[in-house]
Amino acid sequence: MEFVKLSDGNKLPIVGFGTYQLTDKEVCKKAVLDALKVGYRLIDTAESYANEEFVGEAIRESGIPREEIFVTTKVFIYNAGYEKCKKAIDDSLKRLGLDYIDLYLIHQPFGDYYGSYRAMLEAKKEGKIKSIGVSNFRPDRLVDLCMNQEDKPVINQIEINPFDQNYKEESIMREYGVAPEAWAPFAEGKNDIFHNEVLSEIGKKYGKSVAGVILRWLVQRGIIVLTKSTNIERIKENFNIFDFELSKEDMEKIKELDTGSSQFFNHYDPDTVKMLNNLHRN
Ligand SMILES: NC(=O)c1ccc[n+]([C@@H]2O[C@H](COP(=O)([O-])OP(=O)(O)OC[C@H]3O[C@@H](n4cnc5c(N)ncnc54)[C@H](OP(=O)(O)O)[C@@H]3O)[C@@H](O)[C@H]2O)c1
Repeated sequence: MEFVKLSDGNKLPIVGFGTYQLTDKEVCKKAVLDALKVGYRLIDTAESYANEEFVGEAIRESGIPREEIFVTTKVFIYNAGYEKCKKAIDDSLKRLGLDYIDLYLIHQPFGDYYGSYRAMLEAKKEGKIKSIGVSNFRPDRLVDLCMNQEDKPVINQIEINPFDQNYKEESIMREYGVAPEAWAPFAEGKNDIFHNEVLSEIGKKYGKSVAGVILRWLVQRGIIVLTKSTNIERIKENFNIFDFELSKEDMEKIKELDTGSSQFFNHYDPDTVKMLNNLHRN
């Protein structure tokens, strides 16, 4: 496994396991336990995924020492603001059954996230959080936040996949020492990605699947990537990407698949802002 060193000195594995949509207790626990057995040591959850309890149970049941596992969770818009975020951090710690969170992210750049950021800085001083980051911050909001904080976010978790490659956003993040982390590397299967001709052809050359090619492409860009699967074979396949290297030509070929836009939503669209603000915890 390769590791990425963050601007605050902490480090995390470059490939992690995501738990979005794993709302069933047994399914979630099994997937996280399988991932830990395979060797994943970065687990990504969020208060809005409603599975922090299951993730925490799986971590304890794995028997792996706490300090060997890197746990990320996130505060959603409904808990934005200083007071609400302070409580959200304590609630996440309780649900996870942990003494500290390795990385705490502002899930969406809406609501009083400056207030949340203050609560996060305080929690970091108290040892409840080791690293602070954001998610889904487009360049305008990210630059504004970075220019107004001494203690800058160390990660921005955004959508990055072959159809939405975000090279420009990546370079802006790097300018501020913010490490990019990719969500939905497979675009959740959209556009028949697993049968994409270009990616399949490249995969054949290296004896790898489309999924392997995509993950390798991200790792070669130095991007931390989260993958999610409930299938043990695919969990293994997604981890087994350190025994080959894509050529420069193949990296360039993948560039041609970029559509320059999200496969999910546009954070600049008022309807997206309304939709996200209307989401509430069940
Ligand atoms: N910050 C955010 O706003 C945000 C948003 C979305 C996601 N995330 C994080 O990023 C993680 C990954 O994103 P995601 O789960 O949305 O999407 P994704 O990783 O792009 O796609 C997941 C889908 O791909 C399938 N899959 C996984 N490995 C495969 C393989 N090797 N071959 C074929 N199919 C495969 C899975 O099905 P099976 O389970 O059946 O294998 C699953 O349906 C999430 O779990 C979450 O932790 C964050």
